[in-house]
Amino acid sequence: MKIPLFPEQASTFAPDVDHLYFYLVAVSVFFTILIFASIFFLAIKYRKRAGNDGVPKAVHTGIALEIVWSVIPFGLSMVMFGWGAEIFFRESRPPQNALSIYVVAKQWMWKLEHMEGQREINELHIPVGRPIRLTMTSEDVIHSFYVPAFRTKQDVVPGRYSTTWFTPTQTGKYHLFCAEYCGTKHSGMTGWVYVLSPEDYQDWLSGGKKTGTLAERGEKLFNDLACSNCHKPDNSGRCPTLVNVFGSNVKLVGGTTAKADEAYIRESILRPDAKVVFGYQPLMPTFQGQVTEEDVLELVEYVKSLTPKPLAPAPAADNKAQASNR
Ligand code: CUA
Repeated sequence: MKIPLFPEQASTFAPDVDHLYFYLVAVSVFFTILIFASIFFLAIKYRKRAGNDGVPKAVHTGIALEIVWSVIPFGLSMVMFGWGAEIFFRESRPPQNALSIYVVAKQWMWKLEHMEGQREINELHIPVGRPIRLTMTSEDVIHSFYVPAFRTKQDVVPGRYSTTWFTPTQTGKYHLFCAEYCGTKHSGMTGWVYVLSPEDYQDWLSGGKKTGTLAERGEKLFNDLACSNCHKPDNSGRCPTLVNVFGSNVKLVGGTTAKADEAYIRESILRPDAKVVFGYQPLMPTFQGQVTEEDVLELVEYVKSLTPKPLAPAPAADNKAQASNR
């Protein structure tokens, strides 16, 4: 559906967000007209006339009227709340099969990294029809990743990972904006998202210079920074092994546990003292200031690669269903 004045609808979220927006506009327009028309009508009807001293008769509360004008707006605003919350929850839960891409924002550019190792600046190439999950962080101040055609906007915050996702529905070239004031050249912190057909995307992936996948670059860094001297795969080092750590619940000194997600690994690299693994000494030096956010992402991907992915049963079942349909 093409709506004049609106950006294109190029993601699965776009129609949902627009329908909610129409509802908000319709409610606002209805009450604006109702209120202004009432003011106008009543001002004329009860104007001061000759032989009338201008003092109105006292009116007492009508309980029915009070209930009506409380319950109707309450209902209308609960619809806004419920509808908005439903879209918000869907937008904040990326599906498991999403294609993962990393975003590092800095004054004043977008750096994007693909799992296969491709890096881009102010340009993002993605395939149409696949859910895309972005894991984002900033090197300096708060930025915000905003693609109007997808109706997705998510703050990109220094010192933590935020995520967003979307499924592009049509090929094309779409504006990417920074939607959080971040300094002098905030307005110039823009880029383009190129949504490609699956074939064009494969071509794009195979082109360009190869620097290894993110995980491979992370492994090299892991050795260069001498992490490998201590974190040995067979647990013989002075530090815990990182094999099968990602996604697990890690027992910590003090009896608590922590879920080993991206944020946990990032923190363990930059502030190793924050969460010390049960049975180990806080020996690890901090790497704060020695590694960039991009380095950290590569290390995180390497650690993730040490946990073999379980074989997903869902696609196999799909294939079977398709085979039996034929
Ligand atoms: Cu980055 Cu505004």
